[in-house]
Amino acid sequence: MKRAIITGASSGIGAEMAREFARRGYEVVLLARRADLLDQLAKELPRATAIACDVTDSEAVHDAVARSGPFDVAIANAGVGVTAWAAKSVADAEVMMRVNYFGMLYLFDAVMPSMMERRSGQFAGVASIAGLRGLPTSAGYSASKAAMQVFLEAARVELKSFNIRVTTVNPGFIVTAMTEKNKFKMPFLMKADRAARIIVDGVERGKRVVEFPLPMSMAMRFARIVPSWMYDRVLGAARIRE
Ligand SMILES: NC(=O)c1ccc[n+]([C@@H]2O[C@H](COP(=O)([O-])OP(=O)(O)OC[C@H]3O[C@@H](n4cnc5c(N)ncnc54)[C@H](OP(=O)(O)O)[C@@H]3O)[C@@H](O)[C@H]2O)c1
Repeated sequence: MKRAIITGASSGIGAEMAREFARRGYEVVLLARRADLLDQLAKELPRATAIACDVTDSEAVHDAVARSGPFDVAIANAGVGVTAWAAKSVADAEVMMRVNYFGMLYLFDAVMPSMMERRSGQFAGVASIAGLRGLPTSAGYSASKAAMQVFLEAARVELKSFNIRVTTVNPGFIVTAMTEKNKFKMPFLMKADRAARIIVDGVERGKRVVEFPLPMSMAMRFARIVPSWMYDRVLGAARIRE
């Protein structure tokens, strides 16, 4: 039986991915801070273990993996997103970097030795379409997701010779607690269970990049190639006042 570890499994996309992996016959290990929610989810699934863990605590992540490994699949999904002006958000940016980027690195560091020894495994990081270009009022979030993307890309190339696949996941807007606070109309908003199915499908196929919904992906890929003056003009028009 295949085994998967998922961080940020107490809610949203992470909880739905846990359900999806379980439906596909995986044994799942669930990490997040809210133990009550994790326990509730673990009880709902046929073969699941809940471990309360803060992903910014490297030792705690290593302990959790040592207690519950080895894994065929590891998904770094835990994340936080704070909307704020770039000039006002250094503290928030630091938290986002710690959870989103370093949280992923600690999981990577904890699972990789066993995967490399077995010459088998798959690692996926849930980044975001927001990491493809700097989004105004999301500078810290965009930066943390861009950091994840470039790390995962480099690791993917390095780990090929160890038969380990690395997947970058870039979702658009998904209905979760993270987006619930957004006041603006979110284009191509998708439900979390559908997003989870797309991600798990992509992971099982060993895709390098899983990016969705397609119109959102195409819009951001286009935004990446337009010149900076054009990007500024279009995004500047949509400026959010604070
Ligand atoms: N929703 C979207 O539109 C969207 C779009 C693109 C990418 N994403 C990414 O998708 C991932 C999941 O987010 P979501 O939308 O499902 O939001 P969510 O429902 O708020 O889930 C976030 C998860 O991360 C966990 N988490 C946060 N800080 C943590 C920490 N220090 N240690 C351990 N776990 C922590 C939370 O669990 P605890 O609070 O219990 O610790 C929770 O399970 C994030 O990386 C997010 O950036 C979301």
